[in-house]
Amino acid sequence: MSENIIQVSNLSKSFDISTKQPGLKGTLKHFFKRETKSIEIIKNINFEIKKGEIVGFLGANGAGKTTILKILCGLIYPSGGKLSVAGNLPYKRKSNFLKNITLIMGQKQQLIWDLPPIESFYLNAAIYDIEQTEAKKRIKELSDMLEIEKELYVPVRKLSLGQRMKAELLAALIHRPNILFLDEPTLGLDINAQRNLRKFLQIYNKQTNATICLTSHYMKDITSLCKRVICIHEGCITYDGKLNKLLKKISPVKDVLIVCKTDKDAIKLSNSGFVIKNKNQKEITITIKKDTFKSALNEILNKFDIEDLYINEPPIDEIIGNILVKKKV
Ligand SMILES: Nc1ncnc2c1ncn2[C@@H]1O[C@H](COP(=O)(O)OP(=O)(O)OP(=O)(O)O)[C@@H](O)[C@H]1O
Ligand SMILES: [Mg+2]
Repeated sequence: MSENIIQVSNLSKSFDISTKQPGLKGTLKHFFKRETKSIEIIKNINFEIKKGEIVGFLGANGAGKTTILKILCGLIYPSGGKLSVAGNLPYKRKSNFLKNITLIMGQKQQLIWDLPPIESFYLNAAIYDIEQTEAKKRIKELSDMLEIEKELYVPVRKLSLGQRMKAELLAALIHRPNILFLDEPTLGLDINAQRNLRKFLQIYNKQTNATICLTSHYMKDITSLCKRVICIHEGCITYDGKLNKLLKKISPVKDVLIVCKTDKDAIKLSNSGFVIKNKNQKEITITIKKDTFKSALNEILNKFDIEDLYINEPPIDEIIGNILVKKKV
């Protein structure tokens, strides 16, 4: 069993927000006496993440995902609870902690707009005390992996969103962090760029055993990268476990449309004890539990003469979408 690299217990975060009344009277009153109220955004959450895990944080807009990542990176203080990231208290922002982590936000950039990315990379390398020859080696290694050799010398403002995102990743990884916090890294990228980025993260995780905490509204990011997900609803954890298990729990059955070759087979199939959802002459839709899917499919293929077969699963976006609005999964 590998060690827990992130440990969070009873973590909470409240923000003070202004309670200014609308209108001139409200503005004047607020000017002389600022009134605020505290709103709890993260509510006593607990979780642990092992070294090398890739964990997806799922939740509707405003659920608290970015806030959690910011706390884990030490960008904001928690209001209560205990936490340890790579053996550190993140908000102390100690240099050995900062060398261990990186935060990549799809909607924010760290590269300098008017300079080619290579200049920012060397700047980052200097910040992290990485020698020039070592930095050169790492830039070469990462740019090969990310396939952005040519773009390194083009001013950032001239790069496409996908090229820029790859350069952002390179800049964020030059110090070889062990923990990656990725907040919507594929935001706005086209399908191929999203796929390339996912592929890169998979390889990076395999090669370096880095731990990855990821938020994304693109379900493909989650399904292809994360075995484990943590669902957040209004600052509470509603599910923490295997993605497969969650999907099975929420959507335990699959529908299979079977086109029988003969009427005789259709009648035989209708009377075979399978749960029939729909029947239209030789086309029969049956519902099969995911647990017994393989054996049921084998039975059908062996016993009946079949012309065609279609497996229908509800789209994953739909299943997950339903989970995210629930207080309890
Ligand atoms: N500095 C702040 N001051 C006050 N409220 C804040 C602050 N930062 C975040 N919030 C509030 O905290 C809640 C959670 O925000 P957060 O950005 O963590 O959500 P999220 O899950 O990342 O959502 P999204 O999917 O839209 O990115 C929101 O209601 C937001 O308005
Ligand atoms: Mg967010």
